[in-house]
Amino acid sequence: MAKSITLIVSGSIAAIKAPELIRQLRAKKIGVHVIVTAGGAKFVSLKEIEKLSGHKVSTDIFAPDEMRDMWHIRFSRETDLIVVAPASADLIAKMVHGIADDMASATLLANNKKLLVAPAMNTQMWIHPATQRNVAQLVKDGAEIIEPGVGMLACGEVGAGRMAEPEAIVKKIEAVLGTGYLALKGIKALVTSGPTHEAIDPVRYIANRSSGKQGHAIARALAAAGAKVTLVSGPTALPDPAGVSVKHVTTAAEMLAACEKALPADIAVCAAAVGDWRVTPSAQKIKKAKGKAPEFSLVENPDILRHISTHKKRPKLVIGFAAETGNAAKLGAEKRKEKGCDWIVANDVSDGKIFGEDNNKITLITSKKTEPWPRMSKEKLAEKLVEKMIAHLRKKASDGRA
Ligand code: C5P
Repeated sequence: MAKSITLIVSGSIAAIKAPELIRQLRAKKIGVHVIVTAGGAKFVSLKEIEKLSGHKVSTDIFAPDEMRDMWHIRFSRETDLIVVAPASADLIAKMVHGIADDMASATLLANNKKLLVAPAMNTQMWIHPATQRNVAQLVKDGAEIIEPGVGMLACGEVGAGRMAEPEAIVKKIEAVLGTGYLALKGIKALVTSGPTHEAIDPVRYIANRSSGKQGHAIARALAAAGAKVTLVSGPTALPDPAGVSVKHVTTAAEMLAACEKALPADIAVCAAAVGDWRVTPSAQKIKKAKGKAPEFSLVENPDILRHISTHKKRPKLVIGFAAETGNAAKLGAEKRKEKGCDWIVANDVSDGKIFGEDNNKITLITSKKTEPWPRMSKEKLAEKLVEKMIAHLRKKASDGRA
């Protein structure tokens, strides 16, 4: 069945790209129903948008048709996805607080479909703590952000805040709707993410600083490329990625068991920061005794990456991570050989960098080369890594045929 979206155009100068976005979506036979905010209407011609989309553009929640037929409810019920492009700082703030004082914001509050948000604003507005807080909350509420790029902005300043190009937005929409070309259709992927918690007693546990952001982003990017993804996640504060089968675990032993169940798979990405050791937990809370600290003997945990790399059902491509505080590239290369995986994604985590942050800077190590990548968002890194996986599997398949 043909898919359609609701497109909300808000008051940022990037609204001038809306006609091009609609044109590209219509060329792909995706239906587009458009809401323009009062701010958005300062930048676009409603007549042009009506002509391009083939539908009435809605601007006023209290217009007779809109009010009688409750359009602010119907938009999300009758289309498959809501896309806000451009999303102004103001509309993002309203979404976070559940303000519903016009057609766009009321539709967003009544939304029962997935939500894609493409922010566009001046760099200072984008990096302002208020906007960053609001964007983080939107993500927690389940929205997916189409990251703005860096470039010359309409105000003449250079920096982050430039809306993603229509092509990138269309690609994301197609991935969510499942209408695009899915390079990994038919491929099974296993991803581990987050930390593990090893109980000491009913109150205390051994953990680490992993947030799970990178592993979850990889699971999302694999699913967007059409893979059937099982995400084995340690305890994180992150929402489950849409379209991914998520197995929640706590300990390394549970993570290993869940991974074992998820095999066979074509790709395994071990992004989890698995605790290296555990103790035999005490059933009772360990009492504090003055002048006498308890002693623990640590037991080594199973190495899941090594287990998968040497498994009889070994995936065609096994990727490990190496969080190092020394020469990450050198240590990562040694780890690749020692664990028996195909690639290592190495990063330097000294000074508390990387863990919990939204950006990552890695070196990709394969049997053939060591590739330092520039710093980028964990989402972008996940997408780039998945592109590499696609190219690798394609090459393997063609080499196999040759
Ligand atoms: O040995 P190290 O912990 O540095 O190795 C990191 C890589 O190994 C990561 O890919 C991590 O997911 C994986 N690992 C694992 N099981 C462990 C320890 C690490 O799968 N017990």
